[in-house]
Amino acid sequence: MNSPREFYGALREHSCVYFNPRWNGWIVTRYDDVTAGFRAHEQLSSDRMAGPWGEDYALQDPSLHEYIYKVLSQSFVWRDPPYQTRVRTLLNRAFIPRSVELLRPRARQLVADLIEALPADEPVDFLGGFAFHLPVMVICEYLGIPGEARESVKQWSDQLSGVVFVHGHDPDRDRKAEEGARSLFEYVRSVVDERRRRPQDDLISAILAAQGDIDDSFTEDEIVANIVLLVFAGHETTMNLISNGVAAFWRNPDQWRRLQDRPELVRHAVEEILRVDGPLRATARWARQPLVLGGTEIELNDRVLLVNIAANHDPAAFENPERFDIGRTGNRHVAFAAGIHTCLGAPLARMESQEAFSYLSERFDVVEVVEDPPRYRPAIASGGFEALHAIFRER
Ligand code: HEM
Repeated sequence: MNSPREFYGALREHSCVYFNPRWNGWIVTRYDDVTAGFRAHEQLSSDRMAGPWGEDYALQDPSLHEYIYKVLSQSFVWRDPPYQTRVRTLLNRAFIPRSVELLRPRARQLVADLIEALPADEPVDFLGGFAFHLPVMVICEYLGIPGEARESVKQWSDQLSGVVFVHGHDPDRDRKAEEGARSLFEYVRSVVDERRRRPQDDLISAILAAQGDIDDSFTEDEIVANIVLLVFAGHETTMNLISNGVAAFWRNPDQWRRLQDRPELVRHAVEEILRVDGPLRATARWARQPLVLGGTEIELNDRVLLVNIAANHDPAAFENPERFDIGRTGNRHVAFAAGIHTCLGAPLARMESQEAFSYLSERFDVVEVVEDPPRYRPAIASGGFEALHAIFRER
């Protein structure tokens, strides 16, 4: 879908809680209803192994999806409390802004190294040469995944994303995702084993130590599945945030100049990219209990799609929502969701993207995107380009 904003915008105007027979569920598009949906975690479940998704799953051959099942069923993003609360409590400290700030100098260095390796003043593969690498390098270093394994980890994580972010175009998607999940799971398990024997100064060792202090009732598979989640949750999403941002600045050169004149606006700029073209367009739930959303009765077991991107363009919540304005204040976008599942990695994604745009805007006069317009990858849940070639002109 190359113009999701227009599509969901029309839906929001026409029928804000709409039953889509093809998806067999409700599509929710108004800001107030989407945020209410995120906050209604007692009625709207995230559990992918129960309710309507559980029924679909039971019909499939389990041997074909053994590892995807392991990852999905034990990752706390696809579970409800109390399990979700237990895992989140275990991991929370590592992702509070204070912990993430300690990683900023290293992220700045990685940004500089990656950008300087690309030629200026000629077309470069920005997505493949920069945006694809940065998030995985940062999270792998933080977790303590050895340097020599990072290329493979990126590849496996990308394969698994095909199922998680519902890429529509690849007939071989499920097989590749299972292969990626298996390789990632077994590899992370080997690193966890190693850190149990010989702890180091890294996040995997810190998680294992905290597990002993806070809650030692997790199984080894649960620990491994949630570390796997940390590896891939921020990979495609942050990659898309940074490349969607480059395209937004290309379409709005006045805002690029504004950032160059006022570099302190970079934090607001990243929030505005998240709002106008956030990488997670929609988030699925199902009704564990009946509820009323936007005046519509949702019945037990119904599927519900909360469309973040439609909420973020709702004129009832944002003045002049189609305008890309890096000085926007009071930007209460829901690109990271809301409620108990609000993105755990948001401080990390923000920090990496701020460093990327600070560096790019200081260093380059203008940015020109070669594909005009760049095409979005066909995917339901995620919003990112198939390719993004760009020319960065030196200042
Ligand atoms: C721009 C980048 C990112 C975006 C747009 C994003 C978006 C989201 C959204 C919308 C959710 C809620 C999902 C739901 O309610 O079903 C979520 C959850 C989550 N995200 Fe992110 N994310 C990003 C980056 C990251 C990073 C860098 C990490 C970690 C390294 C991360 C880890 C997580 C985790 C662990 C959860 C589950 C939280 C929970 O269920 O309590 N994300 N993210």
